[in-house]
Amino acid sequence: MQIKNLFLQNFRNYEDERFVFSDGLNVLFGKNAQGKTNCAEAVFYLCTGASLRIRHDKQLIRMGEEKARIVAEAENRYGRVTIEADIYENKREIRVNGSKIAKNADLMGHINSVFFSPGDLRLIQDGPDERRRFMNISISQTSSTYYTALLRYNRILDQRNTLLKNHDVSMVLDTLPVWDEQLCKYAAIIVKKRVEFLERLAPFAKEYHDFLTDGKEELEIKPDRRYEGDEADIAKTLQRRLENNYEKDLRLGFTTVGPHRDDLDVLIGGIDAKAYASQGQTRTAALALKLSEVQIFKSLSGEYPVLILDDVMSELDLPRRKKLLKCISEIQTILTCTHAERVLYGAECNKIRIENGKIKP
Ligand SMILES: Nc1ncnc2c1ncn2[C@@H]1O[C@H](COP(=O)(O)OP(=O)(O)O)[C@@H](O)[C@H]1O
Ligand SMILES: [Mg+2]
Repeated sequence: MQIKNLFLQNFRNYEDERFVFSDGLNVLFGKNAQGKTNCAEAVFYLCTGASLRIRHDKQLIRMGEEKARIVAEAENRYGRVTIEADIYENKREIRVNGSKIAKNADLMGHINSVFFSPGDLRLIQDGPDERRRFMNISISQTSSTYYTALLRYNRILDQRNTLLKNHDVSMVLDTLPVWDEQLCKYAAIIVKKRVEFLERLAPFAKEYHDFLTDGKEELEIKPDRRYEGDEADIAKTLQRRLENNYEKDLRLGFTTVGPHRDDLDVLIGGIDAKAYASQGQTRTAALALKLSEVQIFKSLSGEYPVLILDDVMSELDLPRRKKLLKCISEIQTILTCTHAERVLYGAECNKIRIENGKIKP
């Protein structure tokens, strides 16, 4: 899929700007704090309905204004698609081809994107939260079942955690099984989809890693916990684990087991990368994971997502940069950087200079 053009109105530091993208590599360049990431963020917002950096849409609205508007015209395997987002302080309206959508899940999948920032290079050395976020964002874009299950799971989890803080222990113990049945139903959907996702991801990650390291080390990715069987079996297993942890959960006042605590294992050359790999090794592995995410979208939907590389080039050494450019040659990419010539080595691209929220010719 390709984004043909993007229109930003009172979005962050943009007043009224229209970007025309080519199907290949698009390079947004300019000094710091000019609006490059803001533009990349707008693209991601139209793909997922979620901002990368904040929880409140309000910050997306240009200071002093009441409403931000983002419109993109794109092309996916079904044809042309126009997505419009009108963002107000306390609400937003999103339209796909003119029809207002009722829920975020209906937005997912029209334009898929993979957002890659310098923070993602720490995907392996950072805590499990980041890796779950990686899985959640990625799987949600291709599975509304997953996205919906995740929302419901998190809602029930919040309620369960509130209940665990109640001092009336016998009431809590009477009530927990009721919550847990619902919780396990959604947890099982999440776990199953993550297992499938990681099974798909692993061979791509291995292949990219081979390419990036010239076959020096093998990368393995797998879930950190084994779940056997179908969704019903997984739900039962989880139910038992929750029961076994009643006492601990009550003592701590929150739920200590479930997919909100699960992680994935990363092995480089057979060794646990999170604990033992060097920074360089974990960054290369992270790069392989993000590139694999692109391939997963391709394998699930038949077409490449839009790849957003926000300031990533400056974080990579010369051989990795060149390899990355090779890997993305068939994929529409929006790349931000401060010095285009330093990172591109003459690669053919559509260059867009950004200065203070404006496109400069
Ligand atoms: N809601 C907003 N209204 C006006 N300006 C904003 C808003 N949100 C962010 N900015 C401005 O955008 C600039 C940062 O843009 P960003 O895209 O992150 O820069 P970069 O070009 O370095 O990627 C900052 O100067 C910030 O003040
Ligand atoms: Mg930036």
